[in-house]
Amino acid sequence: MKSSHTHTVTSTPSQTLLCVLFTVLLALCFLGTSVAQTLARPNWAGSGLTTEPWWKHAVFYEIYPRSFQDTNGDGIGDLAGITQHLDYLQSLGIDAIWLTPIYPSPQVDFGYDVSDYTAIDPQYGTMDDFDHLVQEASRRHIRILMDMVLNHTSDQHPWFKESAASRTNPKRDWYIWRDGITGPDGKPTPPNNWQSTFGHSAWQFDHRTDQFYYHYFYPQQPDLNWRNPAVKAAMFDAVRFWLNRGVAGFRLDAITTLFESQDLKDAPVLPGNNNFGDPNTDQSLQNNLPEVHDVMRGLRKVVDSAPGQRVLIGEIYTEKPQDLVKWYGARHDELQLPMDTQLGFIDKLDAAVFRAKLTDAQTLLAGNTPLFVFDNHDRPRSWDRYGDGVHNAAIARIIATIQLASQSAGILYYGQELGMVTTPPTRKEDVKDPIGIVGWPLDKGRDGERTPMQWSRTANAGFTTSATPWLPVRVTRANADVNVESEQADPHSLLNWYRQLIELRREHASLLTGTQTMLDHDSQNVLVWVRRSKTVSRRNQPIVIVCNLSAQPVTLSLTQDMLRLGLRGTFLRTLLHADEAMAPQDLNAVTLPPFGVYLGELQR
Ligand code: NOJ
Ligand code: CA
Repeated sequence: MKSSHTHTVTSTPSQTLLCVLFTVLLALCFLGTSVAQTLARPNWAGSGLTTEPWWKHAVFYEIYPRSFQDTNGDGIGDLAGITQHLDYLQSLGIDAIWLTPIYPSPQVDFGYDVSDYTAIDPQYGTMDDFDHLVQEASRRHIRILMDMVLNHTSDQHPWFKESAASRTNPKRDWYIWRDGITGPDGKPTPPNNWQSTFGHSAWQFDHRTDQFYYHYFYPQQPDLNWRNPAVKAAMFDAVRFWLNRGVAGFRLDAITTLFESQDLKDAPVLPGNNNFGDPNTDQSLQNNLPEVHDVMRGLRKVVDSAPGQRVLIGEIYTEKPQDLVKWYGARHDELQLPMDTQLGFIDKLDAAVFRAKLTDAQTLLAGNTPLFVFDNHDRPRSWDRYGDGVHNAAIARIIATIQLASQSAGILYYGQELGMVTTPPTRKEDVKDPIGIVGWPLDKGRDGERTPMQWSRTANAGFTTSATPWLPVRVTRANADVNVESEQADPHSLLNWYRQLIELRREHASLLTGTQTMLDHDSQNVLVWVRRSKTVSRRNQPIVIVCNLSAQPVTLSLTQDMLRLGLRGTFLRTLLHADEAMAPQDLNAVTLPPFGVYLGELQR
């Protein structure tokens, strides 16, 4: 017989509760870790055509989240709206999305005034919505990049609130505070004549402590003091936070302005006044100080320490390639892709200038990858800046071709692929961007290039169910078919041109990774270049790209050029053309209509 002392282990109700709680906690920890791990190492694919880092050949797509798709009917785009359109973006063929800021913000500068670097503004959704977007994008092999605003915070950021509270606050030195000069009337005037790029003095007086703080942008965007190591540490922590959430990198906002000269000398005054009515001043004491490169190298180390080839794209405006090349770093140890606006912001369709700039990008960038930007949320759309009012659609194809068939990474701004036009406000009372209020009517601000994405022919172009989108959708009769739905159905649409270009880029090693030779043909009117892969095979022939940048038809012979390059061929097999009449092309007489574009593979 068994002992009667059978030990039945009975537990008290509180022990059971503890046990259940412990199990639930354990499960939660386990779940939490695995979600974090999948986020930190998402399912990113490389191209089958190259083993080089993905960003060298990627096509980036800038989304202004406020204007992409509203899903909750408040007239403001949101993260769920972006997730909803990932299939569209995948079918366009992009590799990565750059989201302009989605952090909590008072929205004075629509997100570029950040009040918390490690959270999501409730207007755009929740952190779960963000994680979901990263995961869904990743399933489609699309990476997500955040916009990192390093130069300034919002004046509502807790750091600034603390800093402003007293002269002895531990965070006082996180921002740039200076005494003013007592004016003849006894009132304090700014310490020097430095201007804010958004109008008027760059110094704002704060009565709480009787000092001025410095702001390169709006007064609600106080500049951080990057000479304080604590600022750098806090910002690098924010960067790590998003790397661990699975972002593939960052677009770095306004980095040229991180440092300013310490001795506060007045800026030299230049002739004339700016759009805000103030005298023009030389910005070299406030912009492009060499100290910024140390920060870039430090930041690069942080992103390189995360797995999966994360990337740094920089907002840079330079006029000379010699200035741009510095941003890559002497040892390729700063930004992988500083933006190059030298082609895209000259606002003139000129084959000679384009040829020179494309050649510079190949020869003067120390072998680094160029990233040509034509459109963004700060400039009127290229459709209007490069269009002649008659041939805009054909010109838009040329721009697409320069961006996607040249030896560079590519970047598009939402709606560029549709030919969305700039629609600036017509009345001052409608302006949302504060620059447009201060600068009216000379500067109407940036609302015109931020109008909602046009999805369909329905009310508000399918952007929102609200009757009042945050910016009006101005669809005119002339551009009624400029929307995804109509353009998907039209094989000759700009959208399909973009799709085909990106597809060709992905299929042909010559276009994706090949070298580039610019040919000097009819130099004012025609832009011709050849892309050649290192391994030429029957399936991988050199590709010739011809763009007619004039309103006259052109015919040219490329036979001598090919001979000179040691390439043999007699005709071009059409890969893409804007007009049926263009295919195929005899090398002796390549003929293009006004503003025609042709891409062909060299054949014997
Ligand atoms: C550049 C951004 O692109 C622009 O939109 C913003 O206003 C400024 N930086 C300030 O952050
Ligand atoms: Ca600064």
